[in-house]
Amino acid sequence: MYDQTRRKPEKFLGVITAGSLAKGVEARIRTLTPLEKIQTGQFIAVECEGVRFFGLLTDVTLGATSDSVLLDPPYPDDTGSSLLREVLHGVYTYGNAHIQPSLSLQNGEDQPRPVRSVPSHFAPVFIAEEADFEQVFGQENIAENGHKFAVGQPLDMDIDVCLDLERFVERSNGIFGKSGTGKSVLTRLILSGLIRSNTCSNLVFDMHNEYGSVTKGEYSGQQIKGLRDLFGSRVMVYAVRDRRPGDKNREQRATVADGDIVIGMNHIDVEDILLLRNELQLNATAAESAYILQNKFGDRWMETLLNMDGEALKEFCETNGANSNSITALKRKLGAIERMPFVEKNLRSLRVIDDMVAALAAGRHVIVQFGGQDDLLSYMLVANIITRSIHKKYKELTERYKRTQQAQDEPRRVMITIEEAHKFLTPEVAGQTIFGTIAREMRKYYVTLLVVDQRPSSIDSEVLSQIGTRIVALINDERDIDAVFTGVSGSAGLKTVLASLDSRQQALLLGHASPMPVVIRTRPFDEIFYRAITHGQSSLPAFVRPTNGNGHADTEGDDNRESFEEWMKKQDEAQIEKDKADLFG
Ligand SMILES: Nc1ncnc2c1ncn2[C@@H]1O[C@H](COP(=O)(O)OP(=O)(O)O)[C@@H](O)[C@H]1O
Ligand SMILES: [Mg+2]
Repeated sequence: MYDQTRRKPEKFLGVITAGSLAKGVEARIRTLTPLEKIQTGQFIAVECEGVRFFGLLTDVTLGATSDSVLLDPPYPDDTGSSLLREVLHGVYTYGNAHIQPSLSLQNGEDQPRPVRSVPSHFAPVFIAEEADFEQVFGQENIAENGHKFAVGQPLDMDIDVCLDLERFVERSNGIFGKSGTGKSVLTRLILSGLIRSNTCSNLVFDMHNEYGSVTKGEYSGQQIKGLRDLFGSRVMVYAVRDRRPGDKNREQRATVADGDIVIGMNHIDVEDILLLRNELQLNATAAESAYILQNKFGDRWMETLLNMDGEALKEFCETNGANSNSITALKRKLGAIERMPFVEKNLRSLRVIDDMVAALAAGRHVIVQFGGQDDLLSYMLVANIITRSIHKKYKELTERYKRTQQAQDEPRRVMITIEEAHKFLTPEVAGQTIFGTIAREMRKYYVTLLVVDQRPSSIDSEVLSQIGTRIVALINDERDIDAVFTGVSGSAGLKTVLASLDSRQQALLLGHASPMPVVIRTRPFDEIFYRAITHGQSSLPAFVRPTNGNGHADTEGDDNRESFEEWMKKQDEAQIEKDKADLFG
């Protein structure tokens, strides 16, 4: 298979000298290659008789054939030291590249497979070329209705590295990295690929109001488009906001949305409160008390508690054996929820949420914006309640599909993107909450998570071990690094690679949707990308929007960007008129 003329001579790195499958292999770097030019994270090809290996360069080390040259090394100010260094290098001193092989390609086959062996002694090692990337990662084909999506390029080459989106949505996934490394933009990029290729429906809990419409880039000050801007009404925006009249709410009211989230206290479950235990500073007995109340009053438990006066509270505790201190504390803490502007006493149905779930099942995408209500408490409460609705609906849909086995009954896959994911998935709560359940078992039910987080060490390790594809930007904290590699074999080498990433727009890609670990420069989310991703979009199926936020059928077609912008302008104007009326009567 190895054809000396096929590979560029300058890509020759050295030859294999030692190693094992478990720990990776060593290559002695040829004398002429300057070590400074070699980078960890580079994609490597090793040519053997009848088989080609692909791997990742994880480390570079220095070696010497004899200790004596190290005991009396040439110092820069010695006469002729640079000549001496040159003479020694290659004879007495050398560099070693450490390579973690991942895939092997047998002669005559066209699909590489996971490695089960190692290259033999003195097999030649090369920096991978374009053809190798194509062989392993394929070519982007989402414009041709495929599922390969270019997420970036290798560090040292201008060629695409593709993610297999179909495999991506089969499992829950994680995007990790410290703040400012480009997680949210990368998430927007991948969501764009998923929407364009129509691989699954997406629900995004958009805590910081970044995914829907244009935001200002943190570094370059460029305008970064939102998903609604790119995909028109295929992406629906729901707002969690304060619509009460008043000057300070004006900006919030002016956010454009397809519907407003309103939640009835009767839809708040004890489970929702348990998730907020830390944020509400509730102790375990207070949580217990909530269960006593729910058993007694059903879905009116919260409203009933909030209406109890001192006398009623005392009586309730006496008759039900509840601790009066903790019930009083619970009542006080729940006041924070009662005061949330989108929480109402008693709602017959969660219509907006039902509409939203129906839209997802029908193939649309939904962004839940927390403009102005981006405190953690609101964010977690709303995300949990919506996700419980989806869980319930999808369990039903999947069970129906199991019974009928009809292709048209197969549920449409949904991926739920959550920022600050660790808040929902700490070891204390992941066992009980809906997000923990989804991470652990919901792929059976066509629902998966995309967790976006800067503190992976706070996520339950069982949840982490379920994560299919990991995209990891720079992380410094040791515990976070360990957490990211939970359940990953050969992680020692990958840790070195991770540590060498730039602090912006670079990431290590590994897991289910990537044939092997690879380092990328993230694809720029810019005008060129917008054009590429929206090109030929109209040929995609347009979904009929079931109802708008008010429950009325919506006849609006799949609009283009202009009409959406016009619509936004009209909404803004209408809002200003309303504000004037509020202020001046
Ligand atoms: N792929 C990208 N294309 C263009 N700009 C990017 C990209 N990734 C990151 N950036 C820049 O980096 C800034 C921070 O990225 P962001 O995704 O908000 O970081 P994080 O979510 O990790 O804190 C963005 O505001 C943008 O200016
Ligand atoms: Mg972010």
